[in-house]
Amino acid sequence: MNYILAIETSCDETAAAVVANGREVLSNIIFSQVDIHKKYGGVVPEIASRKHLDIISQIVVEAIFVAGITSDRLDAVAVTNGPGLAGALLAGLSYAKGFSYAINKPLIGVHHIEGHICANYLTEKTPEPPFICLVASGGHTHLVIAEGHTDYRVIGKTRDDACGEAFDKVARVLGLGYPGGPLIDELSKEGDPCSINFPRAMSDDSYNFSFSGLKSAVINYLHKCETTGVKIKKADVAASFQQAVVDVLVEKTINACMVNNIKQAALSGGVASNSALRTAAADACEKRGIELFIPPPSLCTDNAAMIACRAFYEYRSGRFDDFSLNAYPGLALG
Ligand code: KG4
Ligand code: ZN
Repeated sequence: MNYILAIETSCDETAAAVVANGREVLSNIIFSQVDIHKKYGGVVPEIASRKHLDIISQIVVEAIFVAGITSDRLDAVAVTNGPGLAGALLAGLSYAKGFSYAINKPLIGVHHIEGHICANYLTEKTPEPPFICLVASGGHTHLVIAEGHTDYRVIGKTRDDACGEAFDKVARVLGLGYPGGPLIDELSKEGDPCSINFPRAMSDDSYNFSFSGLKSAVINYLHKCETTGVKIKKADVAASFQQAVVDVLVEKTINACMVNNIKQAALSGGVASNSALRTAAADACEKRGIELFIPPPSLCTDNAAMIACRAFYEYRSGRFDDFSLNAYPGLALG
C-alpha cells in the first residue's frame, strides 16, 4: 500500500489529504477561507498566506488522523508549488518541506492544474489517456490533451479573464457577493437563459477562450437598463451570462474531441461544479458518442486529494524533489 500526504495552499483553501495508491481518498480536509475574504469582495493574498500559516498544521494532523494511519506509514509528502499566489504557495511548501524532513520521506512538487486534471482519477469510473480535459477554474481556463498520466498538451487557453474570474466579476456587478460562481449557478435556476443574447467568443477555429468581452457586455447591459429605466431581472442576467459561458466551453471541448478523434472528455476546476455546464456537457457528449467524466463538485474546487493523485505518478517513477524546490506563481502547464 502506498500512502501520499498532500498539501494544497495555492489560493484561499488550506487543504490536506491522504490518498492510497493514487486512487483511494482516505481523507480530504479543506478549510475554506471564503468567509474571511468575502467582505473584501475577493481573495486578499497577504491575509490568505497568514491564515494558511495559522492552520496548516492543524489541517495536516486532521488529514492523517481521519485517514486512520500514523505519519510513519506515509510514503511521500506532495505539495502544490505553482501556479498560485506566491505567499500562499510558500506557506504550504515550507510546511511540506519541514514535514518531509521530519518524517524522512520524499517531497514531490505538483502543478496545481495537473492536480485538477487528476481529480478525474479519483472517481469510480475514470478516463484513460488520451482524453480531452477542460480545466476551468478561478485562475485558469485551459483545454488540454491528456496524452498520458503525466503528459499534458495545452491546445487552448484564455486570452484574458479566466472563466471562474468572469463568474466572480459578473456576480460582483450583480451585487451577489463572493465567490460568484456558485451564486450565479443558484440564481440562474430562477432565470431564463435565452432572455438576453450575450456574445459567445467563438468566432475563430482555435481552442482559445476569451471572457472579457462577455463580462463587458453584461456591464453594458446593466448600465443601459439603469439609464433607460428598464427593470433588471438579475436571475435572467445570471442565467443568460451562464448560458453564454457554457455554450463556449462545451462547443470547444466537443470540437477538440472531434478534431483529434478522441472519444473521452473530462471536466475539472471549480467551474466544473457548475450545474448548467455539467448538464450541457453530458447532453452534448451523449449526442456525439463521447464518454464524459466529471469529478463530484467537492473534487472540482481546490482540494489536496487531487494533488496526492498527481504526485502518485511521480512517486511510481521515482521522481522526487529536493529541498531547493521553490514556489512558482506563474508555473506554466505543458
Ligand atoms: O478551482 P478553484 O476552486 O480554484 C482555482 O484554482 O481558481 O475554482 C474557483 C472558481 C471561482 O471562480 C468560483 O466562482 C468558481 O470556481 N466556481 C463556480 C462554481 N463553483 C465554483 N463557477 C460556476 N459555477 C459553480 N457552481
Ligand atoms: Zn484550483
